[in-house]
Amino acid sequence: MSGKSNKDSILIVDDSEATLEVLQRNLAAEGYQTFTAPTVAAAVSLLETTPVDLVVTDFKMPGGSGMDLVRHIRENLRDTEVMMITGYPSIEGAVEAVKVGAEEYLSKPFTDEELYAAVRRALDKLQLRRSGRAAETQTPTFSHGMMGESKAMRDIQGDIAKAASTTATVLVTGESGTGKELAARAIHYGSARASDPFVPVNCGGIPDSLLESELFGHVKGAFTGAAESRAGFFHAADGGTIFLDEVSETSAPMQVKLLRVLQEKEVYMVGSNRARKVDVRILAATNKDLWALVKKGVFRKDLFYRLNVITIALPPLRERDHDIILLATHFAQRFAEEFGRPHPRFSSQAISVLRNYDWPGNVRELENVVQRLVLMTEGDIIDVPDLPPLMRFSALRGEGLHRTLAEVEYEHINNVLASVNNNKTRAAAILGIDRKTLRQKLRRTPGQSDPPNTTT
Ligand SMILES: Nc1ncnc2c1ncn2[C@@H]1O[C@H](COP(=O)(O)OP(=O)(O)OP(=O)(O)O)[C@@H](O)[C@H]1O
Ligand SMILES: [Mg+2]
Repeated sequence: MSGKSNKDSILIVDDSEATLEVLQRNLAAEGYQTFTAPTVAAAVSLLETTPVDLVVTDFKMPGGSGMDLVRHIRENLRDTEVMMITGYPSIEGAVEAVKVGAEEYLSKPFTDEELYAAVRRALDKLQLRRSGRAAETQTPTFSHGMMGESKAMRDIQGDIAKAASTTATVLVTGESGTGKELAARAIHYGSARASDPFVPVNCGGIPDSLLESELFGHVKGAFTGAAESRAGFFHAADGGTIFLDEVSETSAPMQVKLLRVLQEKEVYMVGSNRARKVDVRILAATNKDLWALVKKGVFRKDLFYRLNVITIALPPLRERDHDIILLATHFAQRFAEEFGRPHPRFSSQAISVLRNYDWPGNVRELENVVQRLVLMTEGDIIDVPDLPPLMRFSALRGEGLHRTLAEVEYEHINNVLASVNNNKTRAAAILGIDRKTLRQKLRRTPGQSDPPNTTT
């Protein structure tokens, strides 16, 4: 955080006025203090007088590229993170950016959510560096922002530590949003390679025709448009770790090439038949049942075994009962700080709904729900009516078998009331009773039998 304010500050550097404006508006709306500079030179001179936490820079700019800026920052400013934005489909620049010290990169086009997530990751890293290792061990946070106190997550913590102490290939599995990328980062940053690059590659997001040259690079003239030789992600990750996300989405020919890298530890740039040695640790992730894909013949068995030397299987959130509230509270505090709002608390009924919901989108869904709650809830208590309706109703389904009719009725009435903003006339109409009956039912607490002298 910068000295003057407790907001994280971000300098945005881009030669396009329109882009500057959009990024500034979005990041300011997220609660960051923002500065802009249209050129590298302007950015450098602003940084001389104004310390910022994060610089988000475009790659290609006339009169000095984003790369020069990354270099300048890495050489001169210890306390500033850098994130590079690169063009699509050429991921050109990302590779070099990581090499010279950008902590994060984002390829165009990206969604607002991807921007916010990358910014948050970069700032989290900065925070972690500043607070030093000692603080890490005091909180239930372990390994790079990965939290959890459930038995399952404590086991995972042990697995991550073990994996970090080796150079073995690791396959991280788990449903969407369970924290696979976070686990991969924890392995890398807990390993001896921590000061070398961590390079995530979304194999499912890059068209197959491009993936090979993105991963392995290409030589000049390898294909139409290859005017110059260019290094690939494997070169960028040299000495460090490559994270092959959604590895199940690779084509059969690509799987053969990956197998070769794993066996020979060398890569062939597209258009070249000269092998180049690389020292890259491979981590892979999938939300599919990879073994089922092997049995179906769409994923190579030999590659499966090579990737699966160590498996880290992240449990779905619904199976980590203890962590739901821990994470909800953690996210609530984080977003409250980010948005400058009071720290909210969850009512005990709200907690019970959160615990009974089945979280198909896992931790990411919880994070999104809590973010919305922090923004939308008036006051500092989050109660059942504040929760998304879908969640209130599905929680009811989960609990249904253990509750009395009176409890179910009471809760149903309250849910209906919440859905019509407490309008008793409308609620009574929906419930098929008159307003007087509704009032009487509301006076009763669940579990109590009917008061003796009421007429229903
Ligand atoms: N144990 C955890 N503690 C704190 N935050 C977590 C934890 N697990 C996941 N998160 C957060 O949840 C979000 C999703 O995590 P991540 O991107 O690692 O999941 P994923 O399994 O890679 O998801 P997908 O399959 O959709 O790519 C991230 O914002 C991450 O920081
Ligand atoms: Mg992921």
